[in-house]
Amino acid sequence: MTLKIGFQKTLPSGIDTLIAAVYAGNRLTPSAEKLDLSWGGIIRHQLKSQKKFTGKAGQMMTVTAPKNSKIARLVLIGLDAPAALDAQACEMAGGRVYAAISASGFSRAALFADDEKARGKLSTPEMAAHLAMGALLRSYRFEKYKSRRKEGAAGPESLTVITGPLARARAVFDPLEKAARGVFLARDLANEPPNILYPESFARIIRRELAPLGVSVQVIDHRQMEKMGFGAHLAVGQGSARPPRVVVMHWRGGKKSKKAPLAFVGKGVTFDTGGISIKPSAGMDDMKHDMGGAAAVVGLMKTLALRKAKTDVIGIVGLAENMPSDRAYRPGDIIRSLSGKTIEVLNTDAEGRLVLADSLTHVQRAFKPRIVVNLATLTGAIVVALGHEYAGAFANDETLWKNLEQADRASGERLWRMPLGKSFMKDVESHVADLKNIAGADRGAGSCVGAGFLQHFINEGQPWAHLDIAGMAWTKADKPTCPRTGTGFGVRLLDRLIADHYE
Ligand code: BES
Ligand code: MN
Ligand code: ZN
Repeated sequence: MTLKIGFQKTLPSGIDTLIAAVYAGNRLTPSAEKLDLSWGGIIRHQLKSQKKFTGKAGQMMTVTAPKNSKIARLVLIGLDAPAALDAQACEMAGGRVYAAISASGFSRAALFADDEKARGKLSTPEMAAHLAMGALLRSYRFEKYKSRRKEGAAGPESLTVITGPLARARAVFDPLEKAARGVFLARDLANEPPNILYPESFARIIRRELAPLGVSVQVIDHRQMEKMGFGAHLAVGQGSARPPRVVVMHWRGGKKSKKAPLAFVGKGVTFDTGGISIKPSAGMDDMKHDMGGAAAVVGLMKTLALRKAKTDVIGIVGLAENMPSDRAYRPGDIIRSLSGKTIEVLNTDAEGRLVLADSLTHVQRAFKPRIVVNLATLTGAIVVALGHEYAGAFANDETLWKNLEQADRASGERLWRMPLGKSFMKDVESHVADLKNIAGADRGAGSCVGAGFLQHFINEGQPWAHLDIAGMAWTKADKPTCPRTGTGFGVRLLDRLIADHYE
């Protein structure tokens, strides 16, 4: 269960933990000043008796409440100067303070965000909503396989944000909360172990989650895939006892609009051993997250349906398990993709591009989309290049790139543009087939080659972007708004892309 969030004008009863913002130079908000007065000046006193806490963003300080108080503690959070404060800074502060109070075992917290004078870039209700969003995102837990709750773990937790105007704060928070629900679904999917989440069960979960929300869900099973000619995708899955699936999701929010739909395509390799080109054993368990792109697409569809997005959107995920076995595809195999292009397999570990190739072909043929954006944990090389702060973005269309860049700024999910080009497409031309799935030795630029391979499956004139999220789909350390492992990266980015540019 995640944090329950509400907005109120005044402090409700039964609160055990208070949170108050402090601005640069230790300026207290009016509500904190009032509290200080009623607590006999201990807040000011404690602030003065130390030097470290100055109201800088990211700082935190706990003040123990006086003996006779029903409230146990007040946590002060630094928020810099209000003028500099943006949505991301509020979310990070909200996430950090949630982690801090959660560690000390709270059950009902209240946060003062009622400072009318604080207005900078953000209005007071915006500030309140983003602080709450940060706390909500950080409160995510994946505990379904723990047979016992942690000793002393709190029961249901709630956070009441004291702010005004209330209607405005709730209106700003509403779409954020719906984005968080999509992020949580994406994180849940990414965190499921590969013995539980495999193509068939993944498809079942998608139907169970999305059909009740009004998303139509079509599952293409391996027999239909054979009939239709998904030869590249099927080759990747053929070594596994768990056959592949393609799931097509359709949100029809555009009503009478005659505009073509938007399409989002996700790599859903539920476990990537590398196949016959097997990976080293150390850290191979990470490859249970190799479906992070598909998870983001499913989470996005959930958010769009929850907030009833006013546009038509297709989500398509290619699901397969990449296993070595006596039936597995081999290096040297030549396979025929759905597009008709033949592919020489030179490394069975470059499987994501094979799965995506067929889904990209299918979505363009079946829906003639306005834009195609695919998300994939495609290459280890993007982690070498960009680490864990930016996803690599490859775009063949300047308008789409500009829109993605704006969505990056609006959501805080960061992108760094990488090059596409004829030379990378040439790198994957084969002597014996139309294409090969890796470049020759010593070519370098592994992420760009991966993108170049995908570009062979994009129709002339089709606006398209490929997001390589290999460094972003999971995290080994807690982040301010995301506890460790599955992140749900991409849901908020694409939700903003759609809301701001295509509705
Ligand atoms: N799923 C991996 C990419 C990956 C690696 C994601 C590490 C996250 C962390 C992908 O299928 C893969 O194995 N790519 C190969 C491509 C190579 C064989 C051209 C890689 O990155 O080594
Ligand atoms: Mn691989
Ligand atoms: Zn992979």
